[in-house]
Amino acid sequence: MYKKEVDFLIIGSGIAGISYALKVAAYGKVLMLTKSDEDESNTKYAQGGIAAVMYAPDSYDKHVEDTLICGDGECDEKVVKLVIGESTERINELIGWGAQFDKTSSGNYDLAKEGGHSEKRILHHKDNTGFEIERALLAQAHQHPNIEILSHYYAMEIITQHHLGVWVNSQTPGIECYGVYALNLKTEKIEIIAAKIVLMASGGCGHIYESTTNPTIATGDGVAMVYRAKGKIKDMEFIQFHPTSLYQPGQHPSFLISEAVRGFGAVLKNTDGVEFMHKYDARKELAPRDIVARAIDNEMKTRGDDFVYLDCTQLNQEEFIKHFPNIYHKCLSVNIDIFHAMIPVVPAAHYMCGGIDVDDHGRSSIKNLYAVGECSRTGLHGANRLASNSLLEALVFAHRAAVHACNQINAIDLMNGIPAWNAEGTASPEEMVLITQSLKELQAIMSNYVGIVRSDLRLKRAFDRLLILHKETESLYERTTVSKQLCELRNMIKVGYVIIKQAIQRKESRGLHFNLDYPRK
Ligand code: FAD
Ligand code: SIN
Repeated sequence: MYKKEVDFLIIGSGIAGISYALKVAAYGKVLMLTKSDEDESNTKYAQGGIAAVMYAPDSYDKHVEDTLICGDGECDEKVVKLVIGESTERINELIGWGAQFDKTSSGNYDLAKEGGHSEKRILHHKDNTGFEIERALLAQAHQHPNIEILSHYYAMEIITQHHLGVWVNSQTPGIECYGVYALNLKTEKIEIIAAKIVLMASGGCGHIYESTTNPTIATGDGVAMVYRAKGKIKDMEFIQFHPTSLYQPGQHPSFLISEAVRGFGAVLKNTDGVEFMHKYDARKELAPRDIVARAIDNEMKTRGDDFVYLDCTQLNQEEFIKHFPNIYHKCLSVNIDIFHAMIPVVPAAHYMCGGIDVDDHGRSSIKNLYAVGECSRTGLHGANRLASNSLLEALVFAHRAAVHACNQINAIDLMNGIPAWNAEGTASPEEMVLITQSLKELQAIMSNYVGIVRSDLRLKRAFDRLLILHKETESLYERTTVSKQLCELRNMIKVGYVIIKQAIQRKESRGLHFNLDYPRK
């Protein structure tokens, strides 16, 4: 008898994990593990909103086209059509679960515009849409008798044949998932959690960079676990940098200034107060994110500046505060009255477009392991995600994965004979400084050589430096009692390695992957 046996095991309590849980709970016992407080997730911090086709003159075709243009030739068109075609239905379901979005005085939803969108189509709850979605979903999950949420439980490894003593590699046909080894962060004990079906919904990896909008949970654990289990990982070279995070040196994570603020009319200026976006793209401030982030990066580098400005001084004050109260108050709290002074902003790592490769039903290359949300790669985003498409992708794929998993569950048995975690030969953790220093080194390598602008030489240097960190960390891992910090560091190094490897393999500049050695024709 294992510590825990469930039908559906979910890693992560963001929009992907909870919306899936709400659907599969009618078909079996659901356990959701989450490594921090139950609401801590990238989802909680989403500002701009969720893209969906609601009213004319918008149409599915226009949203599909915008997504394809933004993805720079790398989207899977079938997936784009499928996700956008299901957008209205999934949004109505989310509203049915209690999520509230702002409306105009006429009673229609107050749709906003963001970069790359040809129409207003972003549903939002002021500027804290993610907080509202997370609140509504968790409230539903708490009411369901079949859903158990265990917070401060850290999933360390997915269990496959490898743990039963069978040697597997990426060519092994039929790698199967039987559950996870999880570290209970309250007891510090490692438990076996056996499950018929596992959903990875572990979110992104922003913390491999020095500057990120992501909360500290975003350490790429799901991608690293699946990579180690020999699952397929794709498109990791496409890391999205958000153009406008508040410039506050030393602050980690960085506070986001939503793209919707530019959609509302805010203008980018250099430190002399001169507009520059027209030099880079006819869509100016509302060009896709890769273009705006590169333009800002170029302005900062050529002028030797540490930031650029976002000018909101000309905007309607009452309307701005109504739509963006958190941004307004956050800026005030650091002595920026945005109606009288411009906001200093810089790009920051924001979103992982690639991830665990999945099919139309969210199935990974490992049997009985599904992946949904930011940790997955569905083909929707291609080389660059269209703003506010990720919450939508998570909802649509959680639904599709749930439908598929519920059809399979009765034909799957729990695996017997999973051995306890092998901690032989390990001793108490060494000084924490070894972990914190290695993390800083990783973040410096990724930021300096694998950021917005790359080159073959920078990528090679990053690869060589990372191998040293990898060796040191694996050796620490082999002789030390595991801790969450050490596991996260190991995962972040693994994710950095995959990003660099896939970036080196791409011999062109496309979307978010911009390599000076392969200029665009
Ligand atoms: P998350 O919401 O990140 O949830 C991941 C969960 O997994 C967390 O609960 C975490 O604790 C848990 N977890 C991770 N590893 C482990 C482990 N080893 N063991 C146990 N638990 C684990 N997208 C939009 O579409 N519109 C927006 O307006 C928008 N704004 C954004 C603003 C900010 C500041 C940020 C950071 C992102 C924004 N995004 C936005 C992106 C979007 O929020 C995320 O892509 C999306 O919420 C991801 O949802 P998820 O469920 O996949 O992952
Ligand atoms: C934002 O509000 O600018 C973030 C939107 C997104 O990441 O999709």
